[in-house]
Amino acid sequence: MSPEKAHYFSMSVLRIAINIPGLRWCLKQCFKLEVEDRPVIICGLKFPNAIGMAAGFDKDARFLKELQFLGFGSVEIGTLTPVAQSGNPKPRLFRLKEDEALLNRMGFNNGGVNDAILRLKDRPKGLIVGGNIGRNKNTSNDDAISDYLASFNALYPYVDYFVVNVSSPNTPGLRELQDKEPLAALLRAVVLRNNDSATPRPVFLKIAPDMTLEQLDDVIEIIITEKVDGVIATNTTISRDNLITPEIEFMGSGGVSGAPLRLRSTEVISYLYEKSGGAFPIIGVGGIDSLESAQEKIDAGASMVQVFTGFIYRGPSLVSSIRKGIKLKD
Ligand SMILES: Cc1cc2nc3c(=O)[nH]c(=O)nc-3n(C[C@H](O)[C@H](O)[C@H](O)COP(=O)(O)O)c2cc1C
Repeated sequence: MSPEKAHYFSMSVLRIAINIPGLRWCLKQCFKLEVEDRPVIICGLKFPNAIGMAAGFDKDARFLKELQFLGFGSVEIGTLTPVAQSGNPKPRLFRLKEDEALLNRMGFNNGGVNDAILRLKDRPKGLIVGGNIGRNKNTSNDDAISDYLASFNALYPYVDYFVVNVSSPNTPGLRELQDKEPLAALLRAVVLRNNDSATPRPVFLKIAPDMTLEQLDDVIEIIITEKVDGVIATNTTISRDNLITPEIEFMGSGGVSGAPLRLRSTEVISYLYEKSGGAFPIIGVGGIDSLESAQEKIDAGASMVQVFTGFIYRGPSLVSSIRKGIKLKD
């Protein structure tokens, strides 16, 4: 089965299984899902625990109940765009088994923000849901702000926090929005709109691991001057350094996630934290596949973590082990 089909198939099977009481009980025992959680408060938002599902796994908010059952305290839906789009042609998701990694060039395939809202109206209680927003492929960078604001406005009543995603490598030109001027203008517009709302939501910026130190310095400056609440570090990398899976040569373009990303994303977190003097919270993501690699992100300065690829390779016991053992910053 292709990795993309396997993804929807396994989540659909899980949906059926957790609705059968005996099976639900068995799954709880099997994956040791009964864990006493310690909440984390970030920007005034109380996350039930320190582990969230990263963006891209549940783009259209289809599996919130299932992910909560598996122990995730939060799920970041999206990246959502104002208009539905089918993404890049398949195949567009590949397993790099020898590297414990994935390569994807999904290209923001999603059913559009209004379709997700239909399901969010019935979102499970006790789960924090973040809305990760981006622009449509056919929207130019010059018009990008209106796409972000359209998704922001539509999602506002249904999500607990927002993520401005300018770091996906799979939408042509998107990463140019990480340049200083366009980034400041985009974040200013989103923060302004947020501040006009009845209950402003925390707004995070999600960044790429491939930024230079100079770009990271710009990020710090912009986060502080534009009063953005925090950073999610990091998205997938375009670097192919040190990969050993032989088929990589024939897989084409895309972003790499999982083990090969671990160190670089930790370095980015560490740099942001040290250089800014811990001025804003950081959510750490990239290559987490064990309690130890999750702790590494916290020790580098992250307030909580998210996983994606590690969950694909290690399964639900990864979530329980992080919930049980993680030692958070004071
Ligand atoms: C198949 C796939 C799709 C993804 N889609 C998105 C997305 O739509 N928006 C986004 O911000 N990040 C997306 N990501 C990036 C993840 O949220 C995460 O930042 C990255 O994979 C690093 O974490 P990991 O090593 O635990 O996978 C995607 C990752 C994968 C593997």
